[in-house]
Amino acid sequence: MESIELDGAVRVQVPGKVNLSLSVGPRRLDGYHELVTLFMAVSLYDHVTATPARRGRLSVEVSGEGAESVPTDMSNLALKAADLLRERHGTPDLGAHLAIDKRIPVAGGMAGGSADGAAALLACSVLWGLNLGQAELLELAAELGSDVPFSLLGGCALGTGRGEQLAPALCKGTYEWVFALSHGTVSTPAAFKDFDAHHGGDHVVRTPDRLMKALAAHNIDDVRMLLHNDLQHSAIRLCAGVDEILDEGLEMGGVASIVSGSGPTVAFLCADTEDAIGLTVGLSTMHQVRAVHRAKGPVPGARVVTAS
Ligand code: C5P
Repeated sequence: MESIELDGAVRVQVPGKVNLSLSVGPRRLDGYHELVTLFMAVSLYDHVTATPARRGRLSVEVSGEGAESVPTDMSNLALKAADLLRERHGTPDLGAHLAIDKRIPVAGGMAGGSADGAAALLACSVLWGLNLGQAELLELAAELGSDVPFSLLGGCALGTGRGEQLAPALCKGTYEWVFALSHGTVSTPAAFKDFDAHHGGDHVVRTPDRLMKALAAHNIDDVRMLLHNDLQHSAIRLCAGVDEILDEGLEMGGVASIVSGSGPTVAFLCADTEDAIGLTVGLSTMHQVRAVHRAKGPVPGARVVTAS
């Protein structure tokens, strides 16, 4: 077996995300939906470590949360990212082994796969000495998937188009979140398909102006009332238990609850750390809940944490 050289590694930390607002428009000719969404990056991180490999070899291993359901063939978004990067900016002999350590739920609506794609782009760019700028990385990220650019950028941002066109949004202070993972998963295409089946083709997208103002002013009362997700009912229909988690978590101390992206992870906004700890304990007792994580947001996007 060909050996993998370990004398040089680049480790990237990449956050998950929650959509504070997700407004879905009509299906476009390319199959994607026009949308307007407000993303927030949260401190639930995957880590991707890239080490050099000889003769153009690309490989991946996955550990951590839900690792067994992540593919390790070329359908893995991190491998696709490395392949796209060397095709556009490198040479075919560049190789890498990617070790993904997951904490962001797989197929949970928190952009776990997209995060790994973004992290692999950054890690391989540094590993191979390509040192691309943010604009070049964002361009490749948009080709890989709608949420990949946001995983690179982080913070808070308004996403338009299919979600890949980003404008940073002002967000004062930090917010406390609790994420409840369901037993099931929801595939993003299935959530959009269900949305289409329950709406005419003429649903219009709305820009979350009031929510953006509330975030800029750190007005948590307004933020909590203005959280909105057009895909929430689809996630409820497609995954048993989501409904109960949304309701019961509010009684246990969350100030607002929302399905994260296409779900089925449920995000709870909390008033402070103490409430978040209490809610974490309460949610952990629900049989509909597989795991509970506490996180803060906004946090920065993908970044190198060690390189040797
Ligand atoms: O871009 P990404 O590969 O993450 O999207 C996964 C799937 O989600 C797409 O194939 C499409 O079915 C659906 N999608 C959509 N409209 C968007 C984003 C995603 O219909 N704006």
